[in-house]
Amino acid sequence: MPGVSQTSVDEMLRDAEKAAEHGVGGVILFGVPETKDATGSAGWDDNGAVQSAVRELKREIPEIVVMTDVCMCEYTDHGHCGVVRDGEVDNDATLALLARCALSHARAGADVVAPSDMMDGRVRAIRVALDGEGFAATAILSYAAKYASAYYGPFREAAESAPKSGDRRGYQMDPGNSSEAMREVLADIEEGTDAVMVKPAGPYLDIVSRVKNETGYPVAAYQVSGEYAMICAAAERGWIDRERVMMESLLGIRRAGADMIVTYFATEAARAMRVG
Ligand code: PBG
Ligand code: ZN
Repeated sequence: MPGVSQTSVDEMLRDAEKAAEHGVGGVILFGVPETKDATGSAGWDDNGAVQSAVRELKREIPEIVVMTDVCMCEYTDHGHCGVVRDGEVDNDATLALLARCALSHARAGADVVAPSDMMDGRVRAIRVALDGEGFAATAILSYAAKYASAYYGPFREAAESAPKSGDRRGYQMDPGNSSEAMREVLADIEEGTDAVMVKPAGPYLDIVSRVKNETGYPVAAYQVSGEYAMICAAAERGWIDRERVMMESLLGIRRAGADMIVTYFATEAARAMRVG
């Protein structure tokens, strides 16, 4: 993935310092464990990469909001976002494991946990687990409307999280469907999420706009790896102006109604906005 790689906790701290310096409000962490297994048990290791990174960030850069991606696919050897039984992802068996991961991130000091798995009922399971251990102040940002998208390709390669067999269409949403997105969003709100995310962003601006207008809830939009990579590639070839297209793509997401944008351009865009 252009300009994006797996980093150690030390390298990550330097990137985050730079981000904070330029005015980026928060970071989201994804873990790549040393070993993967069938249940993704490295995901709730209190000394795992994400947990260590959270502790370092809170100590070194207390002003930056620390969010963690909560999902099993980076930790399972089969690459699915949940426990697999008889060739299918078992929704309900996965909930307890997601809650363990989220709790472990909260114990490390995460401000926000962001479940990206799309299992039904995960927001409630995580909320109950957090509240039960005294983490009522830890917020949940749910990937509420997450489509089964081809735009995740570069991320899966970078995070080594592509499913070994099958695809994610059983739990992620059909790109042709918009009313399902609203049902997913309303379910997450009802289960107690603090903000909802739409993903990808650019090809789903109608969803961003609908979610904002119909719920009034805080909405995040995630400009994913493929959206980012396409802009980088075209700019590298001299076909488009990187900075202008970057800013225009982000403005479109903002105009559609996003209150927050998750983007690989964050530091670069923050820098461009300060200068401009
Ligand atoms: C994990 C997860 C994915 C992304 C964020 N969290 C990949 C996936 O669902 O396959 C994609 C991010 C990106 O493309 O930038 N569930
Ligand atoms: Zn996943």
